Amino acid sequence: MPHSHNPKTLHLATPGSLGPVTPEEARLLEKLDFTRLPRHVAVIMDGNGRWAQKRHLPRIAGHRSGTQSARITIETCARLKIEALTLYAFSVENWRRPKTEIDFLMALLREYLRKEMPLLQKNNIRMRFLGRMDELPAGVQNDVRDAMEKTAGNKGMVLCVALNYGGRAEIVDAMNAILSGGNGHGMPTKVTEEQLARHLYTEGLPDPDLLIRTSGEMRVSNFLLWQIAYAEIFVTETLWPDFNRARLLEALLEYQKRERRYGGIREDEPSDEKPVRAAGN
Ligand code: FPP
Repeated sequence: MPHSHNPKTLHLATPGSLGPVTPEEARLLEKLDFTRLPRHVAVIMDGNGRWAQKRHLPRIAGHRSGTQSARITIETCARLKIEALTLYAFSVENWRRPKTEIDFLMALLREYLRKEMPLLQKNNIRMRFLGRMDELPAGVQNDVRDAMEKTAGNKGMVLCVALNYGGRAEIVDAMNAILSGGNGHGMPTKVTEEQLARHLYTEGLPDPDLLIRTSGEMRVSNFLLWQIAYAEIFVTETLWPDFNRARLLEALLEYQKRERRYGGIREDEPSDEKPVRAAGN
């Protein structure tokens, strides 16, 4: 099985790539192996509401504070030369929240895209959005399109924002795209894994190697259901607004401790038989 580690050895980040660091970050960076970083990190940014509640603040204060954590995570991953970062900003289930909170989240995202564009450009980040964009308010759709166009030529990290996203909806959309596309000989009667993956919103990106979830919940919450088949899952009690560079480095170090087997056995485990099939199925 091909290793999912960053293959671009000529373009590795170094401890200096992050600029000035705190003593805690420096200690963590010392242990980090820059040749074995995940290619794709996905994050379920949870706990904004609880963070605000603990401070007797309205929930929206937690979301606002959460944008700082998003900013730090985005910039750090880009500087570490991670290929792709996906942030779960709004799920198809989130429409069940009060309208004021939904409106605030949409406005916050629009504000983020406007304010952070220079930072995204400076770090050579290309933006993608995963989800049913056509169901979003027109203003959000415009800003989403604009952000993708403005960053289309960037060659660094791909930042995917999952917005009006659902993992099951994504698989259904992929199947419908295959069915409506046909195969030149009428309706396809069989679909392969490769074909389905090509019709997902994440088409062309490596699957996440590491899935981070903040605030302690042990759920995947309909996030990237197909793509996380072999992802290492890291759950931290830290609430999203408290997630910072040191916590991200800890997640990366934990990832590097895991042994990834993709359903096979350890490479150095004694076995006199050859695998019947290539791993990964
Ligand atoms: C979950 O916390 C968080 C969200 C539903 C929204 C996440 C959105 C942001 C951080 C806004 C910025 C996003 C980007 C990409 C700039 P929760 O409200 O479910 O927390 P709780 O479980 O404690 O109630």
